[in-house]
Amino acid sequence: MSLATLLAADPAAAQRWRRTFPGEADQAAAARRFAAALLPDCPFLDDVLLVVAELAGNALRHTRSGRPGGRFTVEIRRHGALVAVAVTDQGGPTEPSITEAGPLAESGRGLHTVSACASHWTWSGDRAGRTVTAVFVPAGPCEAA
Ligand SMILES: Nc1ncnc2c1ncn2[C@@H]1O[C@H](COP(=O)(O)OP(=O)(O)OP(=O)(O)O)[C@@H](O)[C@H]1O
Ligand SMILES: [Mg+2]
Repeated sequence: MSLATLLAADPAAAQRWRRTFPGEADQAAAARRFAAALLPDCPFLDDVLLVVAELAGNALRHTRSGRPGGRFTVEIRRHGALVAVAVTDQGGPTEPSITEAGPLAESGRGLHTVSACASHWTWSGDRAGRTVTAVFVPAGPCEAA
C-alpha cells in the first residue's frame, strides 16, 4: 500500500514535519541533520539521510533555490514503518530525470542513488517550483541487501 493511500485512510496516524532552509551550500547537511533528529529509530535511516542530502543538493544545484535569497523546504512524513521525504524547490528550466552516467562521469549519479535506496520516487510541479518525493517501505531494495 502506498503512503498516499495510508494517509488518506488514516491521516491521524501519520506524523509530519516540515522545515524551510535557506538556499546556501551548507544547508543540504542541515536538512540531513533535520531528518536524522526526527527519525532516530528508523531501521533504514542511512538510506533516508542519503536521499535527503541528494534531493536537497539537487534543489541547490539545479533550481532557483540555490540562488541568492533562495530557499527549499523539506517535509518528512511517517506512517508506521513507512517514511516519505519530499524536497520542494523554487523551480528552474530542467526537470528531475535519471541520466546516463558513465563510469568516469563526475555527475549524474544522485537520482540513481535515490532510485536505488528508496522504494519509489516521483516529482511534481513545474518551472515555478517542484517537489521531489521519495518513499521508503520496509524491505525495499537497500534494506533487503
Ligand atoms: N530538483 C530538480 N529540479 C530540476 N532539475 C533537476 C532537479 N534534480 C535533478 N534535476 C535534473 O536531473 C539531472 C540528474 O540529477 P542527478 O542528481 O542524478 O545528477 P546531478 O545532480 O547532475 O549530479 P550528481 O547528483 O551526481 O552530483 C540533473 O542534472 C538536472 O538536470
Ligand atoms: Mg544531483
